[in-house]
Amino acid sequence: MKIRKSTQSERKEILNIHSQAFGKDKGPVIAKLVNDLLADETALPILSLVAVDNDNIIGHILFTKAVVTRAENRISAQILAPLAILPEEQKKGIGKKLINEGLRLLKKSGTELVFVLGHPTYYPRCGFIPAGEQGFEAPYSIPEEHAEAWMIQELNSDVLKKNSGKVQCSKVLNEPQHWRE
Ligand SMILES: CC(C)(COP(=O)(O)OP(=O)(O)OC[C@H]1O[C@@H](n2cnc3c(N)ncnc32)[C@H](O)[C@@H]1OP(=O)(O)O)[C@@H](O)C(=O)NCCC(=O)NCCS
Repeated sequence: MKIRKSTQSERKEILNIHSQAFGKDKGPVIAKLVNDLLADETALPILSLVAVDNDNIIGHILFTKAVVTRAENRISAQILAPLAILPEEQKKGIGKKLINEGLRLLKKSGTELVFVLGHPTYYPRCGFIPAGEQGFEAPYSIPEEHAEAWMIQELNSDVLKKNSGKVQCSKVLNEPQHWRE
């Protein structure tokens, strides 16, 4: 299994991963989100990685640009969304590898903070912590009972303790429907 940046010609396979992983109800919505994000200029710079096994794409992760408004300093930030692994390939550590490789490449290119709205028992395994209690608001308010799903990770150790603010994401991801759960 290899992890590498995706290419333009792999769009269809990537959308298929999300359709299958997220299932009948959410699959079409998430596949459309990915398709639209890959064409969203306000999402740039993006990082799109695929996990490839025997020439087959079995997982995909996307990071897009985030802007931290009202922060004390200018911060380079990204948001992780979405991540999907083919159902039959789940629980083999591929999701973790995609996250860690993404974080490594983002750190190398100077990203300081990474945000995610996701499973609060999954992402802490890769270093994410609740963002709200660190003073970082999501683009839309997250209901109290889901507060722990809004998470952050710093890739530059000076940034978190010196800043707070409200996160603004790309135009496509900024639709309220993507922030309801
Ligand atoms: C969530 C997902 C990306 C994890 O990828 P993966 O390659 O299966 O994950 P890993 O192998 O790195 O980690 C597996 C562990 O994560 C746990 N895990 C998987 N899905 C989880 C979830 N929804 N919530 C919490 N933990 C989860 C597994 O139980 C497993 O735990 P274990 O190691 O104690 O057995 C994958 O299951 C998936 O594509 N799910 C459908 C789409 C989705 O929900 N995407 C994430 C949106 S936030």
